Amino acid sequence: MLFGKAIVVFRTKSGISALEDRCPHRNAPLSCGKIINDNIQCPYHGWTFNKQGECIDIPGLCVTSHHSLRTVPCYFTLEYQNFIWVCPVLNYKPSDLPYWPTEMDFQKTILQRTVRASLINTLENFLDATHTHFIHSGLIRKNNNRQSVKAYIFRRSHRVDIRYNNESKQNGFISRFFEKERVESVGRYLFPSLGQIEYRNKEGTSLLICLYLTPMDNEHLAVFIVIHSPRSWIPLFVKKAFILPFLKIALKQDLTILKTQADNISFFGSESFTFSPLDLIRSHITQIIENEGNAPMVEENTIVNI
Ligand code: FES
Ligand SMILES: [Fe+2]
Repeated sequence: MLFGKAIVVFRTKSGISALEDRCPHRNAPLSCGKIINDNIQCPYHGWTFNKQGECIDIPGLCVTSHHSLRTVPCYFTLEYQNFIWVCPVLNYKPSDLPYWPTEMDFQKTILQRTVRASLINTLENFLDATHTHFIHSGLIRKNNNRQSVKAYIFRRSHRVDIRYNNESKQNGFISRFFEKERVESVGRYLFPSLGQIEYRNKEGTSLLICLYLTPMDNEHLAVFIVIHSPRSWIPLFVKKAFILPFLKIALKQDLTILKTQADNISFFGSESFTFSPLDLIRSHITQIIENEGNAPMVEENTIVNI
C-alpha cells in the first residue's frame, strides 16, 4: 500500500515490476495470484499479465490479442541499495536516484515498523532533540543535565541540516557507554521523506541513522530505519547485539508517543499547534514540502539548551 494505492510488486528475471493490485477482469487482487514464467497470474480466472501489465493469456480463449482495457496500470520501480522503490504516479519516471549516503563504506542494519502518524509529525519527532529528555529520559538525554549548544541551521532547496557542534556527548546511557568523543551531531531532512541523524567524531561519521518514511495512506506510515556504522575490527553482529536492543527501546518509545499524539489529534478533530523558538526544524520541513523541494535558502544560528 503506497499513498492509499494497492500495488503488487513482483520479481522477474529482468527485474522488479510494480502493477496496480487489481485484475482488470473482475478485480481480484493479483497479489493473491502466482508468478508463472516471469508473469503474474490472477487467482480467480487465471488471466496472466507480463511485467508491463499487458494481458498475455486468458485461459480457455484460443487467441489472446492485445487489448488496452485488459492492461493493468504499471508503476515505475527500481531496486536500489537493498530497497525496492516505487513511484506512485502513473506514467512518470523520476529523473534522479533516491538519495543514499554512498560516500562511505558503511555496515547497515535495517529495521521496519508501521506507525499511525503523519509524515511531518514523524519527521519532527525523529529530528527534534527536545523530546528526548522526556520520552527517552536516561537513554538519550536527561532533563536535569542539559548543555548549552549552538545550533546552526542550513536550509537548501530540498534539505535542511541542523548542526550542533559543541555538544560534547549526550548524557544518556547510549552515548555514555557506546560513543567516543563527539565533535558534531547533525539532524537532517531531505525532501520528500528522509530524515537522518549523524554523529561525527574526529575520524568522521561514527553513526548515521536514516529514517525512510513511506506513506501507506493518510494515517499510516511504513517506517524503515537504516543504521549505518563505519567498518571496524568489531564484527557487525557484536555491535548489533550491544546497541540494537537500546535503539529498539528508543524506537518503541517514539512510535508509542506518535500514536498517542495522532489519537489525541483525531479526538480533537484537527491539529492546533503552537510554537516556541526551540522548535527548530518543523517550519523548515513544512516550507520544503510546500515548495515541493524548491524552498529558498536560509542560514541562521541560535543557542539552545539540550
Ligand atoms: S478476476 Fe482476474 S481473471 Fe477474473
Ligand atoms: Fe525520539
